Amino acid sequence: GRTVTVLGLESSCDDSAAAIVRRHGDGSVDILADAVIGQNSEHAPFGGVVPEIAARAHAERMDTLAAGVLAEAGLTLADMDAIAATSGPGLIGGVMAALMTAKGLALGADKPLIAVNHLEGHALSARLTHTVEFPYLLLLVSGGHTQLVRVDGVGEMTRMGSTIDDAAGEAFDKTAKVMGLGFPGGPAVEALARTSTDPQRFALPRMLSRDRGCDFSFAGLKTAAKRAFDSLETPTQADKADLAAGVQREIARHLAERAGRAMDIFADSAGENAKGLTLVVAGGVAANGAVRDALELMAGSKGFTLIAPPLKYCTDNAAMIALAGAERFVLGRIDGLDAPARARWPL
Ligand code: KG4
Ligand code: ZN
Repeated sequence: GRTVTVLGLESSCDDSAAAIVRRHGDGSVDILADAVIGQNSEHAPFGGVVPEIAARAHAERMDTLAAGVLAEAGLTLADMDAIAATSGPGLIGGVMAALMTAKGLALGADKPLIAVNHLEGHALSARLTHTVEFPYLLLLVSGGHTQLVRVDGVGEMTRMGSTIDDAAGEAFDKTAKVMGLGFPGGPAVEALARTSTDPQRFALPRMLSRDRGCDFSFAGLKTAAKRAFDSLETPTQADKADLAAGVQREIARHLAERAGRAMDIFADSAGENAKGLTLVVAGGVAANGAVRDALELMAGSKGFTLIAPPLKYCTDNAAMIALAGAERFVLGRIDGLDAPARARWPL
């Protein structure tokens, strides 16, 4: 196998990112440069991502980000084998920023363009830092997505389950909003939960407890958390901490329970051919310690090894997009300059 070097761009949500990744024939990866500019302060006053603000900010930053990572790596466009960009799914105005920039660079430098599915980027992100063989089971838990996916190869992914209402990250974010903790809510809920002296105090619903599939649901938990909060006369810091701990406990439990079901199905179908059973977790919610602990425990009980990318590659980044681009490029899967930006693009 040959060594390929790819510039990747990402702007599908609220992080503008560029990275250069060198992938070797044996699958090992060097991340030559990696830059992310978040927009939390721009969106915080609104308690969530405002698409128009995000699109503008991405458009203003994409060119300089791309130039910055090339300079950091000491390379030029001529050294790239391909230019990769997220082309969906996501907020369409944002998606267009990275995709149009990538098209311009690809056209100007006469390099192939690779249009990458953001979810495939997350799915492959563990391969930036770990040796992970196909097939594996993926739990993707972010602000926009909560899915269990069987990954058989690049472009060969089958969804086993997904949320029927909110994403796991949204459950954290909305709970944080109810309690006035600010945006993004996940890290705030986790920090507050750590100070709880009675994490079992609030009994909260177990979602889909009688459903035997691999789907997720978080709307009931969010509603119950709001009702519990509203029933407190004047909520103290201790009250909030106990509620944050309760919500986090149930989110972690639900994610682990559903992943456990998928692990059973995956192990059955993999049969004796399996070289090893692996659960990869990716997405911003994978940063949560309680979620990781619950998954670690469940994976262990099912004979799976849990692999989580380092935190900076769990959340949105361009290294995973560059890697997905590199893996596609070596398989000859390049795209034309007419590749569309897509708001929706299921795996
Ligand atoms: O993957 P990501 O950076 O962006 C996308 O949504 O694609 O994920 C962001 C989500 C937000 O909902 C955020 O609240 C959540 O990940 N998150 C966390 C933590 N850090 C980020 N949720 C729980 N605990 C955390 N420590
Ligand atoms: Zn993402």
